[in-house]
Amino acid sequence: MREHEYLQCLHFNSLRLPSGGFANMSLPIVLAVDDADKDRIGAAPDVALAGPDGELLAVLRSVEIYPHNKEERIARTWGTTAPGLPYVDEAIAPAGNWLIGGDLEVLQPIKYNDGLDHYRLSPQQLRDEFDKRGADAVFAFQLRNPVHNGHALLMNDTRRRLLEMGFKNPILLLHPLGGFTKADDVPLPVRMEQHSKVLEDGVLDPETTIVSIFPSPMHYAGPTEVQWHAKARINAGANFYIVGRDPAGMGHPTEKRDLYNPDHGKKVLSMAPGLEKLNILPFKVAAYDTVAKKMAFFEPSRSQDFLFISGTKMRTFAKTGENPPDGFMCPGGWKVLVDYYNSLQTE
Ligand code: ADX
Repeated sequence: MREHEYLQCLHFNSLRLPSGGFANMSLPIVLAVDDADKDRIGAAPDVALAGPDGELLAVLRSVEIYPHNKEERIARTWGTTAPGLPYVDEAIAPAGNWLIGGDLEVLQPIKYNDGLDHYRLSPQQLRDEFDKRGADAVFAFQLRNPVHNGHALLMNDTRRRLLEMGFKNPILLLHPLGGFTKADDVPLPVRMEQHSKVLEDGVLDPETTIVSIFPSPMHYAGPTEVQWHAKARINAGANFYIVGRDPAGMGHPTEKRDLYNPDHGKKVLSMAPGLEKLNILPFKVAAYDTVAKKMAFFEPSRSQDFLFISGTKMRTFAKTGENPPDGFMCPGGWKVLVDYYNSLQTE
């Protein structure tokens, strides 16, 4: 992003379009450079962007370099500068004090060579895939966690609602986030294996599901970030977007509470300027119903029957070899997690 785009994004959560109007854009996409890089670039108009092995990937043309005010960026994106925000500590704090923007010319599709590139479909490739499958509605599901049956409930309920609305062939875009995640989240390769099992075990229907990787880093910036999550899926051809409890949220880094109000993500998304094209499907929280022995939508009138299985609790189950209650996750998917946590303990 150039400075004028960065400022619009940071201050308006949107970008003015050349054609008039605004597109929603709640997270800046920027490249930081340090003093040495800035000196090296000097007055050069164009800058080559290279991969880890020095291979030329893209050219940034007619560049401009402007100050990277990290405190302002962090405060505006997260609404807090509390210490211990994962993406801040690991990606922003160590980054350079300058940002470089320009016209980006990508020379070849970006490959990660991690055995998962076949999952990394571009927005155009996804649109082509939806056309090939004859989709008359595309509903997107963003996630950074393994799929449990609560997630599946949201997705399957959406499909049912779309069929009821008269759509004949709704297709699910299961779109796990593939960039930076915090250390205690399950790594991408393990999640991809877990997602495959969820399809194999029939929790989601492979005939009507496309699994692809969303190559964005996770910021954990709650209601601000969820707008980016939704907007990016419009670009990929989605017209329905599922949102549940505390999207893109996490625990407060220094206090014993959620960083964001868990209902604000879906409220903000339903009102967000520039997302009018997308039908937002807000869901209430799902939890384990100990009477029905399955994941179900929480009913406050019989709250004592429900068990909330947090990420931490799930990890504890997997690490200690204890099984979660029946109906929490399909057995194939659960085994992938148990194997992963076992492998950590034997390292
Ligand atoms: S996120 O960071 O990608 O939002 P996660 O993978 O946990 O995190 O969630 C994916 C989606 O499922 C989000 O829309 C989130 O709101 C929703 N979600 C997760 N757990 C629940 C739950 N127990 N009840 C309802 N919605 C949920």
